[in-house]
Amino acid sequence: MKYPGITDLKMAEGLIFERSHAGRQAYSLPEENLEGVLDAIPANMRRTAVLPLPEVSEGDVVRHYTILSTYNFSIDHGFYPLGSCTMKYNPKINEEIARISSFSQLHPEMPTHLSQGALKVMYDMQNMLSEIGGFAATTLNPAAGAHGEYVGIGVIRKYFDEKGDTKRTKVIIPDSAHGTNPASTTLHGYDVILLESDEHGKISLDTLREKLDDTVAGIMLTNPNTLGVFESDILEITKMVHEAGALVYGDGANMNALLGKARPGDMGIDVMHYNLHKTFSTPHGGGGPGSGPVGVVEKLIPYLPNPFVAKKDDDTFVFAASDRSMGMVRSFYGNFAVILRAYVYILEYGNQHLKEIAENAVLNANYIKAALKDTYHVAYESDTLHEVVFNDQDMPNHVTTLDIAKALIDRGFHPPTIYFPLIVHGALMVEPTETESKETMDAFIDAMKDIRKQAEVNPENILNAPLKTRVARPDETLAARKPVLTHCTTDFCER
Ligand SMILES: Cc1ncc(COP(=O)(O)O)c(C=O)c1O
Repeated sequence: MKYPGITDLKMAEGLIFERSHAGRQAYSLPEENLEGVLDAIPANMRRTAVLPLPEVSEGDVVRHYTILSTYNFSIDHGFYPLGSCTMKYNPKINEEIARISSFSQLHPEMPTHLSQGALKVMYDMQNMLSEIGGFAATTLNPAAGAHGEYVGIGVIRKYFDEKGDTKRTKVIIPDSAHGTNPASTTLHGYDVILLESDEHGKISLDTLREKLDDTVAGIMLTNPNTLGVFESDILEITKMVHEAGALVYGDGANMNALLGKARPGDMGIDVMHYNLHKTFSTPHGGGGPGSGPVGVVEKLIPYLPNPFVAKKDDDTFVFAASDRSMGMVRSFYGNFAVILRAYVYILEYGNQHLKEIAENAVLNANYIKAALKDTYHVAYESDTLHEVVFNDQDMPNHVTTLDIAKALIDRGFHPPTIYFPLIVHGALMVEPTETESKETMDAFIDAMKDIRKQAEVNPENILNAPLKTRVARPDETLAARKPVLTHCTTDFCER
């Protein structure tokens, strides 16, 4: 059986330099057209020796890159239940529209009277996201969720600075938060105050009350939180924070659970980032390009980054700027091609059907939870929405979360998020999203049950997994921090 992402070794034979044959080529150029062109290159900039490139045919090149593309796992390959990251299927209509040449060939320096279509997309998108989240305005500038956090906290900083309220030097962050939350606040010079979750995995009003005073600039919370648990005291929380003179930052990474059902702005959230890739089906991975638009309440609008798209009285669109803004945070105006894909996705669903995303995301997560709760330990008893966190408590024969994740790879699934959130020892965080069918989830459930059974009767297979991949267990830290991206033969290195 061939699993997604696992290429059989025969296909992997012969990297591009090993396929090289003297004299073979993939191009033909009319020599006479190069005359004069070569003379135009200054002598000191010309090569003196032939570059030792592989000599290959077009077919060799195509096969090389096609094979490389199969070494990875993607949402187009199979089930990718990476909790908190919301790896939902990206509809191909998004790609089709993003590739229309009048969008894809648009230069950011194009005069605005020639790019009205793109400006309208951005203007509409600002408004649609404001409407979805319940905010007064939205900026499309940030290039990722974490960048959105940086911008949102920057807006809060600018607001208090302008008020001359310099005593507020702290931001409260629950211990279940994503690591980017404390990083973003620290980058703006705030001290992080850790808020311990209660026994239900939620924010405790009493613990919060103890931490709130006039030195607190805000709280940064995720709702539903990273355990998938809805902070049901949210109205009380935002009221308390506002009464203390502070602001509420919402990490909107988990908007998939709320889309069309509830609006963070209506719950008292003052500023929130969206992760377009998580909620609105734009590509994710490889470090970008991403998009993390930020919505704010009325009083924070002046501090949003510049520029933004405005509509003039004659219904044309222009870039505008606020002189009280926190400044520019990125070149031009966000990752337009990503914003465009999310725009298509929202229009595809339309006002009426957006809520079905949240309904099915929550249904799917609870289906998996119900099917596996007697096989794997569920970290918290509380009801959960779009994701569920299991852990490796009670696993036999010293099988750990990492082993379970590796054994899933052998069974053709991308592992869930592991060891996050940090408050769950040995966490396995499963988020199926709304785009998976019952059959796919049943196959995943069977694989998880099989792993549990094998852990009891044949633990070696799980402890040594994966057994079917090209690489078994690399040092994951080194692989991420110091990847070897060079393939060397005797006379050349491919980078
Ligand atoms: C809860 C939460 N907040 C913030 C982020 C950061 O988002 P991004 O990956 O777009 O920078 C993530 C990413 O996984 C997340 O899960």
